[in-house]
Amino acid sequence: MKNLDLTVKLGGLTLRNPIVIGGSPLAGTARHIMDCVDAGVGAVVTKTANPVVHLQRYPRPLYKLVDYRKNPQDPYAVPESYTWMHREHNSVYPPEAFAKIIAQASGYARERGVPIIGNFTARGVEEWVRIAELYASSGADALELNFCCPFPPEGVARSEEDTRIGIFYTMNPDRAAEVVRAIKRVVGVPVFVKVSPDGSAFVRVARAMQEAGANGITMFANNKLLRIDVEEGKPILYGPTAATHPGMMADSLRWVAEVARAVDLPIMGGRGANTWRDVVEFLMAGATAVQLVQAVMLRGLGHVREVLDGLQRFMERRQYAGVAEIQGKALKHIYSNLDLIDKVKPLYAAFNLRQCTGCRRCVEACWYDAIKFYRKAVPVQENCAGCSLCSQVCPAGVITMRERENDLEHFRAMASAHRDLAPADITWDA
Ligand SMILES: Cc1cc2nc3c(=O)[nH]c(=O)nc-3n(C[C@H](O)[C@H](O)[C@H](O)COP(=O)(O)O)c2cc1C
Repeated sequence: MKNLDLTVKLGGLTLRNPIVIGGSPLAGTARHIMDCVDAGVGAVVTKTANPVVHLQRYPRPLYKLVDYRKNPQDPYAVPESYTWMHREHNSVYPPEAFAKIIAQASGYARERGVPIIGNFTARGVEEWVRIAELYASSGADALELNFCCPFPPEGVARSEEDTRIGIFYTMNPDRAAEVVRAIKRVVGVPVFVKVSPDGSAFVRVARAMQEAGANGITMFANNKLLRIDVEEGKPILYGPTAATHPGMMADSLRWVAEVARAVDLPIMGGRGANTWRDVVEFLMAGATAVQLVQAVMLRGLGHVREVLDGLQRFMERRQYAGVAEIQGKALKHIYSNLDLIDKVKPLYAAFNLRQCTGCRRCVEACWYDAIKFYRKAVPVQENCAGCSLCSQVCPAGVITMRERENDLEHFRAMASAHRDLAPADITWDA
């Protein structure tokens, strides 16, 4: 392969490539951290350690793969869709012990140019600062403040103090900002914050983190999801619990793009990414680097090389010289609804009737009375709202979308069923 530049600058760190192992058992011991380094990743985030004893003890069973349907032709392959639910809490090693794990692995990782990002959670500013100092002095090249899990308060908190941990900080960005500010005052290493997708208003959260001095934001951790076993009439894994699945990537991407456009803060994107293509989507949506967990836990560390090879082949094919050229590429093409009115023409469906097989699939999917049927599909252009559903479901590929010349035709088509009730013109608010 050509000399491609995979390096990325991430909030004060330089990574040899944008693939980061996210906090998980993949980096839960010194041996595992070093194995991640050998697998070729750009950086490793360690398993979360926390000071609350009962959050270090694992409930069980740990994992459940829901809808993990194997392909009988290829039972070895990981299916495209499934939900990974788990009840794994934080590391069984408290922060003092985990700091020793970081110290054991840090020389090995540093010699190979791979930053270790120490992930932990804590209750209250003092505890956060104490562990941050401990991690930084033990060889962590950066910190990732776990503002996402575990998911107290419900279920695991035994005291009022225990509720101010993990996700509490995504829900309370002002308190999170206090923590970031206090840590930045005492440690020199970059500080990232990892937020929970079960929060909201992430642009506001990211702004608060930037103002407090954070060097980057990780979006996202697991969601808390519920699935039901209908035969048993019981929740899977005893109730709502931590989960991720490939389908969640779309939600992550949406927020990564919104934050990237609004805030000048490097983003480690993630949640649902599996393939090199997913990594490219995150980068194009504005992420600086991409965290992988379930994809690698299911396939093994060799998957990192596959993702990197795929990324490099893509860059060669599309003639990108470096990852920096991919980052944020899609952002300028994201339009608001108001932009669309000016920038994008309305459409109508055009049929190649000679090739129509008369299957009626388009007729069943048309909700604007724009397709009649006389042995074959017959378009009614003046009713066509340009929704494009017919062209997407047509099994014979005979429908293409064409641009309309003016908005009035489109507007009349949208209102064709009740012309008498439709507004008289298409003037917009001044
Ligand atoms: C089994 C398992 C354990 C995890 N443990 C942690 C953890 O200790 N700390 C943390 O911040 N995130 C943890 N996560 C969340 C992941 O780091 C990641 O944010 C999440 O799984 C979404 O990314 P993915 O779809 O690539 O897995 C864990 C995820 C899984 C599946």
